[in-house]
Amino acid sequence: MKIFIDSADLAEIRRGAATGMVDGCTTNPSLLAKSGRPIEAVVPEICEIIDGPVSAEVISTGYDDMLVEARKLAKLHQHVVVKLPLTVDGLRAVRTLKREEIRTNVTLCFSANQALLAAKAGANYISPFVGRVDDTSHEGMVLVEQILAIYQNYGYETEVLAASVRHPVHVLDAAIAGAHCATMPLKVIEQLFHHPLTDVGLAKFIEDHHRAARAAQAQPH
Ligand code: E4P
Repeated sequence: MKIFIDSADLAEIRRGAATGMVDGCTTNPSLLAKSGRPIEAVVPEICEIIDGPVSAEVISTGYDDMLVEARKLAKLHQHVVVKLPLTVDGLRAVRTLKREEIRTNVTLCFSANQALLAAKAGANYISPFVGRVDDTSHEGMVLVEQILAIYQNYGYETEVLAASVRHPVHVLDAAIAGAHCATMPLKVIEQLFHHPLTDVGLAKFIEDHHRAARAAQAQPH
C-alpha cells in the first residue's frame, strides 16, 4: 500500500520523506491555510521533496472556474494531481481533465455510490474520508471495503486513497481491505514504526552486548 503524507508543512513533509516510506502527498485548503502561504508557492516546493503524486485542490465550485484553476495547478509541477470535490461540477471537470491527461483526485467522498460516479468520470484517485465517517458513528472502513468491491466488480482503475486517517489502526484496516494508498499526518507515519517490545528488546540486546564486551576486557590476557 502506498503511504502519502497529509500535510502542507514543509518541515513535516521533509521529515516524512526522510523515512523513505512516503510515496506521495495530499494537501487541502485547510492545510494550506495553516502554512500561511499561497498554493502556487507551497505546492512546487512539496513536489521537489516528494517524488510522487502531490494533490493540490481547487477552491472553485463551478465547472468553468474549476477547469481554469485545475489547468493552472497542473502546470505548477509534473507531480501535481488536481483534487476536486465530489459534486456534479467536480465530476464533469474530472471527465474533461482526463481528456487533457491531467490527473485527478476526487475528494470529500462519503458514500460508495459517490465513488462509483468518480470512477465512471475517470478519476485517478478517490478519497473516502474514513475518520470523518467514524465521527458520525458509522464505520469509515466499511466505505473503503464497499468501494474496493465495486471497483473490482467492474475493473475500474481508479485508486482508492483512504483519507482522513487518524491512527495506526486505520492504516492497518486500510491495508487489510486492500486500499491502494492511505494518506495520513506525519504523526501517524511515525507511529507505524513503533512497538514497545522493539524498544525493550533493542535495549536488552545492547545491554547484553556491552556487558559481554566489559567481561571480555576484564579477562587477563
Ligand atoms: C485528504 O486528502 C484530506 O485532505 C484529509 O485526509 C482530511 O483529513 P481530516 O478529516 O483529518 O481533515
